[in-house]
Amino acid sequence: MQKKTIETRLEIYSFEELDKSKQLLINKAKEQVQKAYAPYSEFHVGAAIELENGEIITGSNQENSAYPSGLCAERVAMFYANAQFPDVAVKSLAIAAFTNGKYLEMPVTPCGACRQVLLESEMRFEKNITILLYGTKEIYQLENVKQLLPLCFEKSSLNG
Ligand code: THU
Repeated sequence: MQKKTIETRLEIYSFEELDKSKQLLINKAKEQVQKAYAPYSEFHVGAAIELENGEIITGSNQENSAYPSGLCAERVAMFYANAQFPDVAVKSLAIAAFTNGKYLEMPVTPCGACRQVLLESEMRFEKNITILLYGTKEIYQLENVKQLLPLCFEKSSLNG
């Protein structure tokens, strides 16, 4: 028997430590929580994506009375970005969440299904996507989606 440990690398920043373009993307994600449709969970999530061409795409979670029919903010934003700009790589993604009258203190982290979708965009354009996870106390920055999804299933996995 052997044991293996897989590490996730992340950096922790305060808002002021980030450069202006990252602050802007986080602010866009924060603004976007106001547009969430989350009457069931009352957990409002905003996502903002910066494309390589400078375009910023935003999304928010969209819930449904048939719960599984709803969609997370990250996937709303990423599918829209890829649908509108199929040839443009994604540079970075910021996420923020708001519930009980305030933004989360600790960074919001994407669900498993979103991680899989984000990974597809990273692999599709063969370009790391910088991930910014916002919390009022601290902000996590990850170099790419792969850090969020160890032992992932991807295109090459289909080859056996
Ligand atoms: N949600 C997101 O939009 N993104 C996340 O990263 C976590 C969860 C949504 C899904 C659902 O509408 C609500 O938050 C509660 O799970």
